[in-house]
Amino acid sequence: MKNGVVTSNSDVRIVVASSSLHHTCQHIDLDLLSSAWRIKWPALYDGVWRYGRSKLGNILFAKELSRRLLSDGDPVSNRIYVNSFFPGMIVTDQWLGWDTYFGSTLGWLMRAVGSWGQTLEDGATTALYLAASDDVREKNHRGQYFIPIAAEYQPSWIAGNMELARDLWVSVFSPFACFSSRNRTGSMPRRQRH
Ligand SMILES: NC(=O)c1ccc[n+]([C@@H]2O[C@H](COP(=O)([O-])OP(=O)(O)OC[C@H]3O[C@@H](n4cnc5c(N)ncnc54)[C@H](OP(=O)(O)O)[C@@H]3O)[C@@H](O)[C@H]2O)c1
Repeated sequence: MKNGVVTSNSDVRIVVASSSLHHTCQHIDLDLLSSAWRIKWPALYDGVWRYGRSKLGNILFAKELSRRLLSDGDPVSNRIYVNSFFPGMIVTDQWLGWDTYFGSTLGWLMRAVGSWGQTLEDGATTALYLAASDDVREKNHRGQYFIPIAAEYQPSWIAGNMELARDLWVSVFSPFACFSSRNRTGSMPRRQRH
């Protein structure tokens, strides 16, 4: 990403797909992130809640990466803009997965109701806005969450918990973050439950 800034002499964007279903998760227990066992009951709720947890993680990831890029002391990093978005309620292949939880009849009904939601174009427009619009640089959108169409929006309260965002980064993302070991501001408090 930094090479992209240097070689193109342009700002670079990272756009993270999240969901309004992040609201279904109001806490993250870092010790249970990779639990194969059911955490919530019944199974239906567990599946939706896990999806919501992953989407909450997406927002926290975008916020924490944005914070780290801003604070790593490299001016090139400041030209990388990271934001997350909810594309809208759009019936795609992903929606076939609900059959597993609801059964094929209810799954079909959900898709029928979902077809009243946003269009593919609506969903793509928010992503394209974050990826390409000058607004992002001019309005300094960093670590923010957007909904259709290209509207900045306040996510759930826990999605604004920067301590949790840092803890989650350390638990999950650090092994993959090439610059984490050089980050002077990334020192983490002891791992906590939330
Ligand atoms: N559709 C909605 O209503 C909705 C609402 C909220 C949020 N979202 C989010 O929007 C994003 C896109 O969802 P969508 O509705 O467009 O789903 P989709 O039509 O099912 O597309 C999912 C895409 O992800 C790819 N993919 C899946 N698993 C992958 C893996 N392990 N590695 C690499 N690529 C993988 C698939 O590739 P293949 O085609 O090759 O399998 C496919 O291109 C997701 O993050 C979803 O959670 C969607």
